[in-house]
Amino acid sequence: MIMNKDYWVDYYQRIGYLGPSDFAKFCVDRFIRYYHHVVDAGCGDGRDLRYFEKFNFKVSGIDCVPNPNPNVIVQDIGEAKFNCDVVYSRWMLHAIDKETEDNFLRNVYDGISLFGLLCIECRSDTDDRAPILDNHYRRHINFERLKEKMIALGFKIIYAGEQRGWSVQDNDDPLLIRIIARKIV
Ligand SMILES: C[S@@+](CC[C@H](N)C(=O)[O-])C[C@H]1O[C@@H](n2cnc3c(N)ncnc32)[C@H](O)[C@@H]1O
Repeated sequence: MIMNKDYWVDYYQRIGYLGPSDFAKFCVDRFIRYYHHVVDAGCGDGRDLRYFEKFNFKVSGIDCVPNPNPNVIVQDIGEAKFNCDVVYSRWMLHAIDKETEDNFLRNVYDGISLFGLLCIECRSDTDDRAPILDNHYRRHINFERLKEKMIALGFKIIYAGEQRGWSVQDNDDPLLIRIIARKIV
């Protein structure tokens, strides 16, 4: 569970609309362009969801923060059931606890279509420059353990990387994990 809803509502009011992330562009260009239905899990203010809407697929979103977009539902991601081809999730995995992560990954696997995709970008736990926070929950993710967990569920990893330079903003250049996984059985 752990949602820090008030923190996120305030955060989106403060930062304003940032435009689509590089990860959203990367996923559209290389992986999800020809799928039918994409769900943005932990879509926040909808920065990437709005970008996805420019393409020819159905898009919906889930977040604990309300969004004026009628295709976004307010729900705890650990309880969400999926019925789509692609689940896209940027910077959400490190905002939830381990139990929520386990439920989320299992529900994605059960709910996406055969050969459907799970696309994840999150902060790595080997980032020794990561700031310590006291105002909202952050649980950095271990690259190897996440891949193993996804493979054990039945996913095939079709892309995996861990590096800096993927989301540079002002003085912040976090060490990030990207995993694109396909449901194969
Ligand atoms: C770092 S933001 C990322 C937002 C967006 N994907 C992006 O890349 O800008 C994390 C998001 O996860 C949402 N979130 C955190 N815990 C959640 C939960 N248990 N259920 C649903 N959403 C949650 C927060 O409300 C927030 O919008």
